[in-house]
Amino acid sequence: MTSSHGLTALHLRQGHPDFLDLPWHLPLGDWNPKVCSRLVEVPRGLSRHTVVFVSYGTDIYALKELPVPVGQREYDVLRGLEDRRLPAVTAVGFARMRVPGEPKDETGVLLTQYLPSSLPYRVLFMNKGLERYRERLLDAMASLLVRLHLGGFYWGDCSLSNVLFRRDAGELQAYAVDAETSELHAKLSDGQRNLDLMIMEENVTGGLADLAAMVELPHTLDVYETARSIRQRYERLWSETHKEISISARESYRIHERIRALNELGFSVSEVDLVASGDGSQLRMRTIVTDREYHRHQLHNLTGLVAEERQAALILNEIREVKATLTRELNRSVPLSVAAFRWMDDRFRPTMSQLERELGPAIDEAELYCQVLEHKWFLSERAKKDVGLKVAVKGYVALRREQPALALLRSASAPLPTVVTEASVSTEAAMDTPSEEAEDEEADTAASQVPVPVPSGGGAR
Ligand SMILES: Nc1ncnc2c1ncn2[C@@H]1O[C@H](COP(=O)(O)OP(=O)(O)O)[C@@H](O)[C@H]1O
Ligand SMILES: [Mg+2]
Repeated sequence: MTSSHGLTALHLRQGHPDFLDLPWHLPLGDWNPKVCSRLVEVPRGLSRHTVVFVSYGTDIYALKELPVPVGQREYDVLRGLEDRRLPAVTAVGFARMRVPGEPKDETGVLLTQYLPSSLPYRVLFMNKGLERYRERLLDAMASLLVRLHLGGFYWGDCSLSNVLFRRDAGELQAYAVDAETSELHAKLSDGQRNLDLMIMEENVTGGLADLAAMVELPHTLDVYETARSIRQRYERLWSETHKEISISARESYRIHERIRALNELGFSVSEVDLVASGDGSQLRMRTIVTDREYHRHQLHNLTGLVAEERQAALILNEIREVKATLTRELNRSVPLSVAAFRWMDDRFRPTMSQLERELGPAIDEAELYCQVLEHKWFLSERAKKDVGLKVAVKGYVALRREQPALALLRSASAPLPTVVTEASVSTEAAMDTPSEEAEDEEADTAASQVPVPVPSGGGAR
């Protein structure tokens, strides 16, 4: 590195460009298209620091300028989040630049991978086609905090600007960005969780008040009620994952029942503790929940597809439908893995090939497929019969041609995830001998510990 160069050190992870062609001799705030042709504009939230985005082919990176020790800490925390497979942006590297006048005449630059198809909350509020997601934002934030807290992550600065949202088959998945004030622990105390929730409430209310001064907020997002509502959703979800139940020795089916209820909510259960209580005739059951990616893991293990959690849950329903059809046709039971194989060959691949021919390459196949499914439900509801996938693909293509940034028609019968309580678990699961379906699911619970790569694609085109 020459002495005129501002870059003094660069730590990079494998599999990314070397970034040496960037104008490191200038502070990030002075980068403009004349000195850096790689600069790109993307939708973004508010920030304290200077943040710029650069593209290398289809890959986009975020660069944030901040004091060296702070940036190095954030890099380490983001790596820790990745090791724990928690939803956050991925750290790519850390650079040090000489900047006269800064402490020790240097400053740091944190490089992260741009989260593809991510939507900052402002886009969700202001874009007309996205109204349907606004209410979902509350669930997505609550779920993100539960997942992070389960993983021992104390955020210290949860705010609307520090969360990124990705579309997930009619829902939203939230990811953490900005871990400057965060800490990773083996386990969070109730005090730490509570403090994090208080900070979230203060930040969200402040963020909405600022926004309300500029634009009219939808009535679903009251400045003072929204944060409270996120907290309530968080608390419901947290107590659901931490509920202890009392069972008798003859009620072992309730163990499966409880695990299935958590799986239905997307949580993977890693351990079950049973402790005798009272006179010993009762057992207290406690489950240890690890992540909220149960369906994601299951779909990945069955098909190799990478999807978000709700996309995966919807696709798995389709695979179960294929399993039921095959079982009927062959007059014998068929494993889920065989049905998954058939689903790939008969439904997924042909649909994707046709969509590619008609609309060009997909960035996020799982989201696109789920949009077609949703269109199928919509058409079937109108026709009062199942219109089938072929008709749905045709109709979807026509709609996309009319409306490239499609605001989807929501069908009233599209299955929405529900909080499954013990009382509402199906009788099939409540049998002493687990059903074949339950066995499939159990096998998948064990397999669900296999990590799923972070999606590299984006949302729907
Ligand atoms: N890796 C990333 N992918 C997508 N957007 C990002 C990424 N990093 C930052 N952003 C956007 O830039 C904004 C500011 O980044 P952030 O890390 O929160 O900076 P600050 O510490 O200054 O608040 C975020 O709200 C987000 O919208
Ligand atoms: Mg921030």
